Amino acid sequence: MNTTEDSAGQPVGLDVGTSRIVVARNRDNKQHFEAQLNAFVSLPNFRLTESLLTEEKVFHEVDGSKIVVAGSDAQRFADMFHVEVRRPMRSGVLNPDEPESLAVVQRIIAKLVGPAAKEGQRLSFSVPAPVGGEGDDIAYHEASIRQILTGLGYQASPINEGLAVVLGEMAASNYTGIAISFGSGLCNVCLAALSLPVITFSVPKAGDFIDTRAAKAIGELATRMRTHKEQSFQFNGVSADRLHNALAVYYDDVIRSVVDALVLNCAQRHPKLEHPVPMVLSGGTTMPKGFLEQFEKMLRGRELPFQISEVRLAPDPRYSTARGALVAAHI
Ligand SMILES: Nc1ncnc2c1ncn2[C@@H]1O[C@H](COP(=O)(O)OP(=O)(O)OP(=O)(O)O)[C@@H](O)[C@H]1O
Ligand SMILES: [Mg+2]
Repeated sequence: MNTTEDSAGQPVGLDVGTSRIVVARNRDNKQHFEAQLNAFVSLPNFRLTESLLTEEKVFHEVDGSKIVVAGSDAQRFADMFHVEVRRPMRSGVLNPDEPESLAVVQRIIAKLVGPAAKEGQRLSFSVPAPVGGEGDDIAYHEASIRQILTGLGYQASPINEGLAVVLGEMAASNYTGIAISFGSGLCNVCLAALSLPVITFSVPKAGDFIDTRAAKAIGELATRMRTHKEQSFQFNGVSADRLHNALAVYYDDVIRSVVDALVLNCAQRHPKLEHPVPMVLSGGTTMPKGFLEQFEKMLRGRELPFQISEVRLAPDPRYSTARGALVAAHI
């Protein structure tokens, strides 16, 4: 379906996220987004199962004695068979401890973007900023994703995730400001001036950290914490619910770590900006009600070498990175 509708060979934006892979396209003067969970489950290969999955149009592939169900269908099957979904990526890059990682990411990307409609069709894909200046695992990740996309016929180029959010959400301020993507494996931060990155970094604490740490603190399963977080968590002070309290503690930990890292990076680099700059928050981890207010509270009184004109949430925070990658693909 993707390939025929994309026959004009227009540029494509791709967010290769730890938790979700999102594709953005321009069609009929509108932006269209499509997402798949970046996850899979492996089931035993019984002949009957395979034909049933095909009949039910479940995204799967037979791999010897196993059937691999990948993408958003994986969660449904994991729940049905009481198994954990496996994740091809960790902390923003291909998971080195998951032997199937590259093959699964390749399948999900191929399903979402399809082969290029014309040779050399442009595509930008997001890559994270290094956590502590060590770029080796990112270099391998970036080269692997590029190889997948080149194999599909695209002219693929990487775009830093934080800068993608600047491009996706900060046109009104001439692509000047601070963008933060609160994701699943990482939080990516970019301070840009006139679309040029001045400071970029990532913090290795985000949604997955909240789930696993909160789960450990109260002896729960991380998947249960994640479901609770996504379905009912909001910032409303201390409550009698221990799941809520554990999530609140680690949400604060993530926000504080990002603010601390921003203050530290700005103190070290001391960027000179003439005017107050806006700040935009994106990513799935910003979704709970009250996130913006909690962030503003934790930013208040912290020392930055420039003024912040406003802090706002991206209108649809889960699509900001893909939207920005699409802008980058057009440049
Ligand atoms: N409604 C929600 N409430 C709270 N958290 C949510 C909600 N929806 C998604 N999340 C969380 O957001 C995270 C995924 O966000 P996002 O899709 O921005 O990450 P990603 O781009 O896949 O990861 P990364 O950028 O770290 O590689 C997950 O931790 C998920 O649990
Ligand atoms: Mg992301």
